[in-house]
Amino acid sequence: MERIARDYDAWTNADDRQLGGDELVAAAAGCEAILCAPGDPLIADVIARLPASVRALATFSVGYDHVDVAAARARGLPLFNTPGVLTDATAEIAMLLLLGAARRAWEGQKLLRDGRWTGWRPTQLVGTGLSGKRLGIFGMGRIGRAVAARARAFGMEIHYCNRTRLPAELEQGARYWPDARALFARSQFLSLHCPATPDTHHLLDAERIGWLPPGAIAVNTARGSVVDDEALIAALRSRRLAAAGLDVYDGEPALAAGYRDLDNAYLLPHLGSATLEARIAMGSKALDNLDAFFAGRDAPDRVA
Ligand code: DGY
Repeated sequence: MERIARDYDAWTNADDRQLGGDELVAAAAGCEAILCAPGDPLIADVIARLPASVRALATFSVGYDHVDVAAARARGLPLFNTPGVLTDATAEIAMLLLLGAARRAWEGQKLLRDGRWTGWRPTQLVGTGLSGKRLGIFGMGRIGRAVAARARAFGMEIHYCNRTRLPAELEQGARYWPDARALFARSQFLSLHCPATPDTHHLLDAERIGWLPPGAIAVNTARGSVVDDEALIAALRSRRLAAAGLDVYDGEPALAAGYRDLDNAYLLPHLGSATLEARIAMGSKALDNLDAFFAGRDAPDRVA
């Protein structure tokens, strides 16, 4: 915000709330760039209505599924994102979800806060350990690899599926599976780290949940659209899956009906990159890109 105040004549979203399409269009009046964030609906219709003054889009995020890339391209608007600086923060949240879901942290919190805890019992809230278990990572980019590094320290055996096999120095002993079915069949724990694309829409659906070992635990820090909520809720209800940990939701901030009632759903409100360190670095990166663009230099993180 200091850099913006120093270097730009900017309208800022001082209330820190998500804007609707009409508000975005109105706020962009006279602006040459838009620095947006996940949840800002830069859909085709909004992009088409942006004032002619707008010459670039930068998103305060690595994911850019909230921007209609084809529409941006059609209007000749470059799009910049913020890769690399929220890797550790997101990997930490994935670990929190793995641990929280496996060790029944939500149920423990609730027991205490509701004043129902009657003391230590041998069978109370017994969960599943991570150590010695197989973790399947779907999407072994920066964040997937950062999760693998942390999970290894917890004694987990790492398996992954990726479009291409990684070189040995990045695999770090992880076992590669070329297709989702082979990976899922071995994943006592599954962590999703793929981008939201038409190919990954509802990737975790009823059929693929059926490929996981009974009692598996699935976590999602990628995007909500990667999960078929109805199928996941049914699998959690029936205990086909022991638990799930979710940080992102299809249609967020709305939650699919059913998650809130499930004790085996460990839920966070899209906190993946929510550390001060990551958010400052994301802001700096977004501005580095815009600075470069307006100075006529190649911007480092152009995705469209
Ligand atoms: C991103 O950068 O895409 C994250 O989801 C924001 O937390």
